[in-house]
Amino acid sequence: MTQGLITVSYIASTILFILALGGLSNQETARRGNVYGMLGMGIALVATMAGIVSGNYVELVAALVLGGVVGIVLAQRVQMTQMPELVAILHSLVGAAAVMVGYASFLDPDVQFTGVEETIHNVEVYIGILIGAVTFSGSVIAFGKLSGKIGGSPLLLPARHWLNLGLLLAAIWFGRDFVQSAHEGGGVQPLVIMTIIALVFGVHMVMAIGGADMPVVVSMLNSYSGWAASATGFMLGNDLLIVTGALVGSSGAILSYIMCRAMNRKFLSVIAGGFGTGTSTGGGGGAAEDQGEVVPMEAAEVADMLAGAKEVMIIPGYGMAVAQAQHTVNEITRKLKDKGVNVRFGIHPVAGRMPGHMNVLLAEARVPYDIVFEMDEINEDFPDVDVSVIIGANDIVNPSAQDEPDSPIAGMPVLEVWKGETTVVLKRSMATGYAGVQNPLFFKDNTRMLFGDAKDSLDAVLKALG
Ligand code: TAP
Repeated sequence: MTQGLITVSYIASTILFILALGGLSNQETARRGNVYGMLGMGIALVATMAGIVSGNYVELVAALVLGGVVGIVLAQRVQMTQMPELVAILHSLVGAAAVMVGYASFLDPDVQFTGVEETIHNVEVYIGILIGAVTFSGSVIAFGKLSGKIGGSPLLLPARHWLNLGLLLAAIWFGRDFVQSAHEGGGVQPLVIMTIIALVFGVHMVMAIGGADMPVVVSMLNSYSGWAASATGFMLGNDLLIVTGALVGSSGAILSYIMCRAMNRKFLSVIAGGFGTGTSTGGGGGAAEDQGEVVPMEAAEVADMLAGAKEVMIIPGYGMAVAQAQHTVNEITRKLKDKGVNVRFGIHPVAGRMPGHMNVLLAEARVPYDIVFEMDEINEDFPDVDVSVIIGANDIVNPSAQDEPDSPIAGMPVLEVWKGETTVVLKRSMATGYAGVQNPLFFKDNTRMLFGDAKDSLDAVLKALG
């Protein structure tokens, strides 16, 4: 393959990656976005294998087949609710790859630079390994926390900010040492010491972050993995890797920012750690403290209420994902629409356990896009809503985010369902949600509880609707 053809292929891949990101910003175009992304990656792989790789094809194809099979098996087995931990462990692989490419590039006798070029290459190697090692160890800890293998409580060492600062200064100091000694033919020792420092930093950083902030951490590590790939691109002189890494790095950073805003958290305070007890990361969390009486209701009564309503708002949350109730939700929606009821969905930006979690499930169940609204689009409409149905959601409809300044979720924007005429909450018990805080919504006069697994409850409602 000629250099010109490689360049053209790389430009085509870059354009397809940008189109992929654009497509993923909207549900209606997300599928197309994915196809663009796959196409771009296919072209990039073929161009790199045919144009840049010059030997060892057997090993290359063996690695591709092995990686491909592992990827397919993982993707088929993973539950939607386990997606964040899968993403975390995949980020760790990007970090590990950056570290390995960095060492290989530094130790490769064929890579010969002199003068300023040598210094620049060594700085690229150092930064690539640094970001890669932080991404690797941070992602492994994030995986452990999200999968419940490591406790969700933040590990808050005394003087932890000083420890972080010390590690950062040590990394810079060894960087200077590395560039100088590499010039004289050495450099391995400071490189190894920095790698260990970066690994410790990654572990310490993520251990200090509580369960409730983990989604932001995953998207932040996503961003780091992009920058690690970009640094690898500089090391290898590969333009496509630089651009692709920068796209992942910047989109991950923007996503972290959007999520922080949706949870009313400051990015720096998330990174500094400390928030979130993590006692209820499974969504079926801590026991509720008593705030008064709740009023339970039967499925048949809920069906009657829905059939008699004009405006219904459905608020899905993590429990809908656990119960896999989205298809029944769609059938109920269709039935109610046939009866002339206006049904809409209100989606909180951090409902569920990953960005877009609810949108993916509703799209899978073929709920029409035009009745699914973001929180900001419908939050003012609740006073006109007759019945709000909360399906396995808790934190995202918690009024204490507005009323209780001391609440751990104080200031988080929430769906103001209590302003509607009646709210029906579907959950199994009085347990708290992800943030581990009690929800005063359940005790309000206009709230009714439909206890049970969301799928079972909704099946009963559907049956009663006739
Ligand atoms: P949560 O506040 O976690 O509440 C989920 C509720 O679903 C629980 O109270 C649980 O109560 C109920 N539930 C669980 N399984 C159920 C089932 N099979 N049937 C019926 N109900 C069931 O969820 P949410 O309201 O969606 O809020 C999301 C929370 O997760 C926020 O705190 C957010 O910050 C955090 N978070 C978000 C993300 C992203 S990016 N979306 C990622 C990680 C964490 P019972 O046990 O009583 O049934």
